[in-house]
Amino acid sequence: MAKLLVTGGKELEGTVNVSGAKNAILPILAASLLTSDKIVLDEAPDLLDVDVMSQVIECLGGKVKRNGKRLHVVNKQIKSIETPFDLISKMRASIFIMGPMLARTGRVRISHPGGCAIGSRPINFHLKGLECLGAQVRMDHGFLDVSAPKLKGARIYLDFPSVGATENIMMAACCAEGTTLIENAAQEPEIVDLANFINEMGGKIKGAGTNIIHIEGVKELHGTSHTIIPDRIEAGTFILMAAACGGEVLVRNVIPAHLKPLLAKLNEAGVIYKEEDEGIRVMGKGCYNAVDIKTQVHPGFPTDLQAPALAMLTKANGTAVVTETVFENRFMHVDELKRMGANIKIEGRSAIVQGIDNMYAATVVASDLRAGAALILAALIANGTSEIREIHHIERGYDNLDGKLRGLGAEINKVD
Ligand code: EPZ
Repeated sequence: MAKLLVTGGKELEGTVNVSGAKNAILPILAASLLTSDKIVLDEAPDLLDVDVMSQVIECLGGKVKRNGKRLHVVNKQIKSIETPFDLISKMRASIFIMGPMLARTGRVRISHPGGCAIGSRPINFHLKGLECLGAQVRMDHGFLDVSAPKLKGARIYLDFPSVGATENIMMAACCAEGTTLIENAAQEPEIVDLANFINEMGGKIKGAGTNIIHIEGVKELHGTSHTIIPDRIEAGTFILMAAACGGEVLVRNVIPAHLKPLLAKLNEAGVIYKEEDEGIRVMGKGCYNAVDIKTQVHPGFPTDLQAPALAMLTKANGTAVVTETVFENRFMHVDELKRMGANIKIEGRSAIVQGIDNMYAATVVASDLRAGAALILAALIANGTSEIREIHHIERGYDNLDGKLRGLGAEINKVD
């Protein structure tokens, strides 16, 4: 199995280009099922998850061809309504095909996605929303068999502003008969990118990015070309790494408005950065005041940056309280950080991080992609050479992270 060897103690210097957003392209690839016309997606990140979603599309009868950062997608004919278990179990985001498949064919069979390291991750809000639109959901030997001869617009109130449920309902509703209102909708920027993509296909969606989304069903959708928004979580990860390692790094291809929750928190910690036309320039100095972090749905502090931020706080001046409110088990990185010398105590949904002067290298295991990023950050600020295993988790969601870090002067190498 491949692993990463990381030698800490070096500052980062130079410019890094952020790739397109994983959490935007995955629902957008699913939304390509809504039309039989050609779709072109630019700034498509080269990720394992994008490969898996492409395989899901091809199992249904579609074609996906990559040409550098450009994906050509066409779903001329839907040849199957079922996707193989092993693909769904590989990536939870495959559930995004439910909405578009119901809109396109009126039927979809999908194995109930399991949980993962960060939590049980049920899909009850997805199913409730689709049922409000007229779908029938049947459990059949571990498979969800969802059918909807006719989707009709409805008023749907989400118990929780779930990103995936908001996206699935939006994709099912865009060709339903009549109007749909999604209240208490998630407001993440990736939802806005999906809504823009569907509107470019001829959809009529208003209010994406707020907690009330208004969708007027249209007869059919046509092909389009779309550029995926930059990945705010990858950008935030590099900003945290630059701050923690010291040195000056320009993080390019970012939308500063998407990074507000992180930048506000880093300001509080004493991180010096400048918003420039080209991106965010970080003048890292390697040590900061401890700051409390509480993850929230957007526009709160993103749960996907909790792990890397906590890793940076292991060497802060003082004690930080990091509270995870979105997922029930998203502290898997803590035990690994403690093996590198970090002083962290878990109390309920919070991690109490007592800043220390030195972290030391160790062999650690990534449990999910953001925990993996946290371990890389910790290894970059630890004394000695760490070994990070199970790095396939990292490659699911970060496009060439080790290569980009080497470009900034980090001593990081992938070995089999
Ligand atoms: C999306 O997951 C992202 N994934 C996650 O990114 C991100 O952490 C999450 O949104 C929150 O921002 C993609 O977009 C592919 P949710 P999603 O539905 O849609 C519970 C990463 O690291 N819930 O907003 O699954 C759920 O268990 C990944 O890039 C239900 O209870 O997130 C969780 O506790 C990780 N029932 C909370 O809501 C449901 O039907 C938030 O989940 C759906 C969700």
